[in-house]
Amino acid sequence: MILGIETSCDDTCAAVLRADGTIASNVISSQGIHDRYGGVVPEVASRHHVELVNAVVDDALRRADVELDDVELVAVTRGPGLVGALLVGVATAKSLALARGLPLAPVDHLQGHVAANFVAPEPFEPPFVCLLASGGHTLLARVTEHDGFEVLGRTLDDAAGEAFDKGARLLGLPYPGGPHLERLAREGDPEAFAFPTARQVDGLDCSFSGVKTALLYAVRDLGEDEAARRAADLAASYQAAIVRALVDRCTRALEATGLDRLALGGGVAANGPLRDAAAALGATLHVPDRALCTDNAAMIASAARWVTSLAPPDYLAMDAYASGERALA
Ligand code: KG4
Ligand code: ZN
Repeated sequence: MILGIETSCDDTCAAVLRADGTIASNVISSQGIHDRYGGVVPEVASRHHVELVNAVVDDALRRADVELDDVELVAVTRGPGLVGALLVGVATAKSLALARGLPLAPVDHLQGHVAANFVAPEPFEPPFVCLLASGGHTLLARVTEHDGFEVLGRTLDDAAGEAFDKGARLLGLPYPGGPHLERLAREGDPEAFAFPTARQVDGLDCSFSGVKTALLYAVRDLGEDEAARRAADLAASYQAAIVRALVDRCTRALEATGLDRLALGGGVAANGPLRDAAAALGATLHVPDRALCTDNAAMIASAARWVTSLAPPDYLAMDAYASGERALA
């Protein structure tokens, strides 16, 4: 039994994973307080993690029908993320592990998103290309092992989820904007506006600042009333441009690696048009369940199965890290 803890952003998460990779519980407590600020406020997130984390861990154990005595390994997200938020999870994991004399596995958040694909009952085995697109990160990885990945390309500016959130904000939608924008886009014409797809960026990198600016100008040129009347068309065209950019990079990555297996991860993988366009590429596609795509602790526990754990009390000196992708393979 692995107890996973994830507090890298605004979701307080705990999960119990069995050694065979099946999920016994996966609890996600979304703070739901950041929408009034239009984004995550780090200090507010940290304070809420402190208030929630013990209850979320208890809930994960209860739902899995296990006691702390049954846990053999504690896994925790070490970074990247908001450092104050990460430290709440790291301190919690250290305390629980030390009190029980258990080993602790420090897990990279991005490796966690990749490892969401390794969860039973249908684990997707390497090698494959993985598109990770969340609010904080957008990258393409070549995954050949369970314990790491090679970064093939990444966004040069905003993450894809951030582009969805900022676009949604321009259209007057609540935070986080991705799901709201997707819903609005269903009633719109994706070809109504010609937004750029960042094809000018070479290779496997991508960029979303151009399409964001294009939406800003389109809204400004239309004027408030007309932009509101055409909000669905704007949303559909904007979403189409982001999806085109992401799928284009997936195509290039499959060609560059010669692989015919593609996995999606991160919150943006919940996007229906992105899933449909990725499925149309013809490669074998794997998309984890929605609850495993957005931030969660089951993916952290999953990744921990291939991490070298630290014995007590060696992990007491372990620190969180705020930034950087640790490409391990
Ligand atoms: O992985 P995640 O839960 O947290 C981070 O690590 O960032 O991703 C959250 C991001 C947000 O930007 C959110 O707007 C986006 O994923 N997202 C979506 C959808 N659902 C969530 N973007 C587009 N379409 C969706 N359906
Ligand atoms: Zn994430």
